[in-house]
This record gives sequence, structure tokens and C-alpha cells, in this order.
Amino acid sequence: MITYIKPIIQDIQKMQQLVAQEVKNGNILERNSAEMATTIRSYIVAYDGDVIVGFVALHIHTITLCEIRSLVVDESYRNSGIGGELIQRAISEGNFYGLKTILVLTYRQNLFEKFGFHVIAKESIPETKIWADCIKCKHFPICDEIALTLNIGENKE
Ligand SMILES: CC(C)(COP(=O)(O)OP(=O)(O)OC[C@H]1O[C@@H](n2cnc3c(N)ncnc32)[C@H](O)[C@@H]1OP(=O)(O)O)[C@@H](O)C(=O)NCCC(=O)NCCS
Repeated sequence: MITYIKPIIQDIQKMQQLVAQEVKNGNILERNSAEMATTIRSYIVAYDGDVIVGFVALHIHTITLCEIRSLVVDESYRNSGIGGELIQRAISEGNFYGLKTILVLTYRQNLFEKFGFHVIAKESIPETKIWADCIKCKHFPICDEIALTLNIGENKE
């Protein structure tokens, strides 16, 4: 059975090992231990027993905008719903915090559209994202990822 929990500092090394290949593939931006420690509360981790098999981060950029980033599932666990469950839980967390919009930059447009995300023009990606992350990416400024957003929390003040 897969369980979904908030990670602790001691999980960071295992999370980095899990994501290493995708960092090499250029699918996920590398994050060092110090950066992961400062943002540890943004992560949700999927465990199978005592093995980390996936994780996601919901990073808050502004009082309205957050972003799903670093979504990864161990290759041997893919296509069984873990990635989708992590996305769903990140959306719930965005709702919990009263945010309005979730952004994602991804090659997996279909996966996110299933959760109601819509493609947006790259020009509308907020500057906070560009300056915090995109400039560190090996694909910058020629980015072929697709930007999508989901509006949440529409019933809140
Ligand atoms: C993207 C990624 C996290 C998806 O994880 P996952 O656990 O395979 O995700 P899911 O199983 O929820 O969904 C994957 C597909 O399996 C399908 N699926 C979900 N549950 C399923 C089940 N029980 N049986 C069969 N298929 C299923 C989904 O509908 C989805 O189909 P799609 O590819 O047509 O959209 C994973 O492929 C990965 O780590 N990729 C490398 C890193 C990366 O690209 N990250 C994205 C950055 S935004």
C-alpha cells in the first residue's frame, strides 16, 4: 500500500537519489540539500513501506500563486496512479492554504489536463518563477516545456 506523508529532513538524501536520473534527463531542476531543507514543508512524499517511490512539491510564490514542481515517481511504480495522487494532494494543499492559482511547467500536458489544468502562454509565466527557477535551468531561455494553470479556491474571499 502506498502512503502519502510530509517528509522530514532525513528524507532529503533519498529524495535526491530518486530524482537524480530525471535531473540528468533535464525533466526536473536540480535542488541541493540546503534548498530542499528550506522548502521541506512544500513536499509530499509517496512511500511504499519504508521506500520513497515518488514526491511532489507545492511551492508558494505569492499570496495567490503557487506551483507544482519536482513531480517524480520511481520508474518501476509509474502508470499506476501515484503521480496523479500526488498532483491531487498538491491541489488540495493549495486549496488549504487559500491560494488562487497553481502553475506547472511540464512535458506531461495530458496528465495535468486530467485535473483541470489549462495551457497558458509562456509570456504570462510570472517573473517570480523566471527569476527563481528558470534561469537555473539548462534549457533556459529556449524552454520547450508547456505552461499550464489551474484556478482553485474560487469560493474563498
Ligand atoms: C510524470 C510522472 C510523475 C507520472 O507519474 P505516474 O505515477 O506514472 O502517474 P500516473 O500513474 O498517475 O499517470 C500516468 C499515466 O498512467 C495512467 N494511469 C493512472 N492510473 C493507472 C492505472 N491504475 N492503470 C493504468 N494506467 C493508469 C494515467 O491516466 C496516466 O496516463 P497519461 O500518461 O495518458 O496521462 C512520472 O512519469 C515521472 O516521474 N516522470 C519523470 C519526471 C517528470 O517528467 N515529471 C513531471 C514534471 S512536471
